[in-house]
Amino acid sequence: MKPKRNIFIFESAYTLSNYLMKKWHSLARESVETKGRFTVALSGGRTPLEFYCKLSNLDDFGLWKKTHIFLTDERFCSFDEEASNFRMIKENLLNYVRIPEENIHSIATNHVNVSTCASQYEEKLKSFFDFKEGDFPSFDFMLLGLGEDGHTASLFPWDYSIKETTQLVVPVSSDQLSYERISLSLPVLNNASNIFFIAQGSQKSSILEQIIEQNRDYPASYVHTQQGSLSFLLDKEAAGRLSYRDSFVDQDDGILIQS
Ligand code: 6PG
Repeated sequence: MKPKRNIFIFESAYTLSNYLMKKWHSLARESVETKGRFTVALSGGRTPLEFYCKLSNLDDFGLWKKTHIFLTDERFCSFDEEASNFRMIKENLLNYVRIPEENIHSIATNHVNVSTCASQYEEKLKSFFDFKEGDFPSFDFMLLGLGEDGHTASLFPWDYSIKETTQLVVPVSSDQLSYERISLSLPVLNNASNIFFIAQGSQKSSILEQIIEQNRDYPASYVHTQQGSLSFLLDKEAAGRLSYRDSFVDQDDGILIQS
């Protein structure tokens, strides 16, 4: 059965990131009011940059002090390196907002090997989230990018880690990667309440056509939620091969098409 997905198509990265800002704000308020905290998992890559820069202007200490930021994945490298996702999120977001240090939950990469890093991050999730044995933590807000090969987080089509069904965090090693990786596993991605895929640029149009219109199997195809919402936020170039009428639905300047 095809997972229920909302596909939003935006005129530009500008309107896409504005929409995501509004969703962040409303979901953060709702989570803090109902649960006393807002838990998010953020991706690396270039696509989220505009959103992170905009979010860095959110000057609401009442929300930031209740917001807990985790990463969906990380490269096995020092935080000083250009390739570090934590470095990118710090330089574009965390350095500018009044979020308490203890609310920032990076993936430590200073352990002896990538498996130890994955185990340590798994322990961090288990001590932070309250969930039953055999179940999975549930993030309020999961931001995922999409690679041209259909990967998301660091779950790649050519790696068995996409098939992990019990671990919360997986190590990924391959000579196809410049860096070994640490990634949330698919069950953790799927247990989030609100999942947002963001993709921009014509270079993503082919993989999106294969995933959304042709239902081809890629790691990103396996992301869906039982109880939450799954939205693809695309700019027009990325959506260039999707069959939709260019008629605007009043969704923050985005066109909503169901898939
Ligand atoms: C990473 C990301 C990865 C990213 C995609 C898309 O560690 O690189 O987590 O999954 O989201 O590769 O990257 P772009 O946004 O740069 O296209």
